[in-house]
Amino acid sequence: MAANWTKESWRSKPILQVPEYTDQAKLESAEETLRSYPPLVFAGEARNLKAHLAKVAAGEAFLLQGGDCAESFAEFSANNIRDTFKVMLQMAVVLTFAAACPVVKVGRMAGQFAKPRSTPTETIDGVELPSYRGDIINDIAFTEASRTPDPDRMVRAYNQAAASLNLLRAFAQGGFADLHQVHQWNLDFVAGSPQSAQYKELSTRIDETLSFMEACGLTGDIVPQLRETNFYTSHEALLLWYEEALTREDSLTGDWYDCSAHMLWIGDRTRQPDGAHVEFLRGVHNPLGMKCGPTTDPDELLRLLDILNPANEPGRMTLIARMGAGNVEKHLPALVRAVEREGRVVVWSCDPMHGNTIKSESGYKTRPFDRILSEVREFFDVHRAEGTYAGGVHFEMTGQDVTECLGGAQAISDDTLSERYHTVCDPRLNASQSLELAYLVAESVKAGRWPQNGNKVAAAE
Ligand code: PEP
Ligand code: CO
Repeated sequence: MAANWTKESWRSKPILQVPEYTDQAKLESAEETLRSYPPLVFAGEARNLKAHLAKVAAGEAFLLQGGDCAESFAEFSANNIRDTFKVMLQMAVVLTFAAACPVVKVGRMAGQFAKPRSTPTETIDGVELPSYRGDIINDIAFTEASRTPDPDRMVRAYNQAAASLNLLRAFAQGGFADLHQVHQWNLDFVAGSPQSAQYKELSTRIDETLSFMEACGLTGDIVPQLRETNFYTSHEALLLWYEEALTREDSLTGDWYDCSAHMLWIGDRTRQPDGAHVEFLRGVHNPLGMKCGPTTDPDELLRLLDILNPANEPGRMTLIARMGAGNVEKHLPALVRAVEREGRVVVWSCDPMHGNTIKSESGYKTRPFDRILSEVREFFDVHRAEGTYAGGVHFEMTGQDVTECLGGAQAISDDTLSERYHTVCDPRLNASQSLELAYLVAESVKAGRWPQNGNKVAAAE
């Protein structure tokens, strides 16, 4: 076990980006309720994900992580969960088939509620109130009552996460993810787009392949991967009262796991080596993500890896670069070289969302699709040049037909952003944009695994 660590030891460290709860008794009662509730995931599942991520780190699989920027109580419905799951399956199938690479699927779902904010308060028409920090903390409506942090919201978030996870497990294991359903995952509103046509063609090829395999005797009964899939959950471990209350000792190994999700990540604003978030996460045995932005210093990164993964366990750490288009070449190589020099085993993943947020002329917080594509390309280029493996992508996306990011095949313009702008936090890719991106990534993964590029993965094959 990590030295001098308890699930409460974060409480004595400096902490950023959490609310001030004024009613201590109410906070303690919510924590007690959560402590008495069952874990949402099991330690064994987190270990399985870690083993899959170890394969990614070795260049033998690819990580696809995606979902909402912030889940909300208002947008909670079976259809929303199903549609995001469908797009993830479509993206995964594109990657698996086109890049001939197994895909590890991890949702930003069933717990992605708490948000770091750039300012602690928001002022509208001279009225200053606490910033909205996600539905697990306060309400988005701009009134004093709504913005006051309420600990009972943690219990509601737990219940929503439990129901979401239940549905996701049913989808993943109950027939919905059967590869024979590949045509059904296409969403109606994407029909008619170039991605949809491309996807239909791919589905037909998969059908043919399945028929061939069946003729050879390889059916879903013999190869369960054909009829079910593994789908894991993740969120930013920001609200540590919630995370602590769901942290449990695994009876099999005696190790501690944060059982609120399979994988947890540390945000770009809370990765201080001496801070509370790093302290908490160093002691739980889940696979961890860490965002690396333009301010990440190579020496500090190594120090964080020492703290979070002292045994250099493969699959434990996923480094999620979010530099912004045009900035990847400037900042990423130094981090990659430091990690390589010290022989640290990590998964390198690319978040092309958080470094590319802008305010549109009409005032919407948005992201140009072109910049998102550029950052992904730059990320793959750096890894190709360094001879390292670009192992994954991390997207904010939804299965809904939203108009939140500019551009893409539907050519969403500033004028159309207002039509279906539903996010409670950052702008998400819609299904069509997500698929378009999946094709680009598939091509890059395939190119990166090609022997003539001489990277390590290719060399190992
Ligand atoms: C996020 O992933 O929603 C987020 C806030 O990212 P970052 O910490 O990279 O800014
Ligand atoms: Co976000």
